[in-house]
Amino acid sequence: MKYKACLFDLDGVLVDTAIYHFQAWRTLGKQFDFELSHEQNEELKGISRVESLDKILHWAQFQATQEQKDIWLKEKNETYLELISHMNPSEILPGVLTFLKQLKDQGYLIALGSASKNAQIILEKTGLITWFQAIIDGNKVTKSKPDPEVFLKGVEALACSPADCIVFEDAQAGIDAAKAGGMKVVGIGSSAILFGADKIIPSFNDIQVSDLLLL
Ligand code: BG6
Ligand code: MG
Repeated sequence: MKYKACLFDLDGVLVDTAIYHFQAWRTLGKQFDFELSHEQNEELKGISRVESLDKILHWAQFQATQEQKDIWLKEKNETYLELISHMNPSEILPGVLTFLKQLKDQGYLIALGSASKNAQIILEKTGLITWFQAIIDGNKVTKSKPDPEVFLKGVEALACSPADCIVFEDAQAGIDAAKAGGMKVVGIGSSAILFGADKIIPSFNDIQVSDLLLL
């Protein structure tokens, strides 16, 4: 087999949680009179919670103490946790389950590589957890995408090498991370805003496992 494993980002690839992050940041922003736009939300994809707040405060031109930031990070996550508490398998994005099944049937290893510290709970709520041989999330890394750490740890957990692996990502930071780690990468979304991927697909309805051999 040309490749042995597939590593998936979570938010925006397997489930559409970007809408919940957006709502939770908008709720927080009210405290300092800031309304996050959809374009700005796009820039928060793939990056950590801490970096997201720093960007938002920069856009809002608001100086905050570390103590204040810690309180807001906690509050944002409480709002987010409330929003995702209602998630269920119907929120798995189109084509994902069929693709995962094809991968499993053909003997590919499957891992998660996500910046989220809430990955475990989302995987449990949606029932996706059973598909993964390794889960690397925001609790297991020290450096955020575009650093390749999250994917390199996934590769290591699967006892593979980067050249054996294909990453699936919806964020530019994630595509850059996969490339920096020496992996092939399939971008999920639009070629108008994602650059440097080996292939771009609108959704998992647009790819078959056999297409991976062409990467
Ligand atoms: C990424 C999201 O997957 O996880 C980012 O794309 C988010 O938008 C990051 O900031 C961290 O998520 P969490 O759940 O730890 O706040
Ligand atoms: Mg993502």
